[in-house]
Amino acid sequence: MRFDILTLFPDLFAPFVKETIPGRAVAKGLVDIRLINIRDFARGTHLVTDDRPYGGGDGMVMKAGPICRALESVDRIGEHATVLLTPQGRLLTQPLAWELSKRDQLILICGRYEGVDERVRTGCADLDLSIGDYVLSGGELAAMVVVDTVSRLVPGVLGGERSNLEDSFEDGLLEYPHYTRPRVFKDREVPEVLLSGDHERIRLWRRTESLRRTLERRPDLLEKARLTEEDREILAQLRKE
Ligand SMILES: C[S@@+](CC[C@H](N)C(=O)[O-])C[C@H]1O[C@@H](n2cnc3c(N)ncnc32)[C@H](O)[C@@H]1O
Repeated sequence: MRFDILTLFPDLFAPFVKETIPGRAVAKGLVDIRLINIRDFARGTHLVTDDRPYGGGDGMVMKAGPICRALESVDRIGEHATVLLTPQGRLLTQPLAWELSKRDQLILICGRYEGVDERVRTGCADLDLSIGDYVLSGGELAAMVVVDTVSRLVPGVLGGERSNLEDSFEDGLLEYPHYTRPRVFKDREVPEVLLSGDHERIRLWRRTESLRRTLERRPDLLEKARLTEEDREILAQLRKE
């Protein structure tokens, strides 16, 4: 899978590409991350990429021209989508990340300042995407979140075949708690069941804890989660506790 990231600050991505799971996926040849400096497509002696907003007001707006020329420079491969990162976009969720991971190429546009000229959104973007209901100073962190979240779903990127299937949100629930050595840490013991070697008891404990966490922390998720008859019985029990 290929990510083409349009940004005014390509250097911000260096440690991200080097140190992370997407970085390792790049080394394995499973993911390709390309950085395009929007300033390279600016014109004039000052290579201006932003300007004052029509209608007045604070801040600067990224000009459409350099972004569109940068987009035109990107060769398209297979199933691709151009994504404008904006706090006003569709919220990134795990199901949407799965959808995006089926594409061959995502072209991500990182805004700065007050954002980008609206004509980039209306004329060039297939999807407006937000990583959450808060405002970042720039789209670069959002792009890293998208690349990280989506690329770990690309087959072969994570070591174990199942290692992302039990993650939080995969079946609509929060994941159960994890423990590793030592067995006792600051007087707190690992739950006995996890040491039992009894796979069925461990499965049931994990499912119960997953449901408990979701009920306590994100009850809204239960409305859409894929629940089995056993899950419903466990939930009924938990609600009585
Ligand atoms: C300071 S923000 C602009 C916010 C804009 N004035 C607004 O109110 O919608 C600058 C850039 O950061 C990025 N950004 C900020 N918050 C984001 C979020 N939650 N998700 C995705 N991108 C975000 C976008 O690329 C945006 O163009």
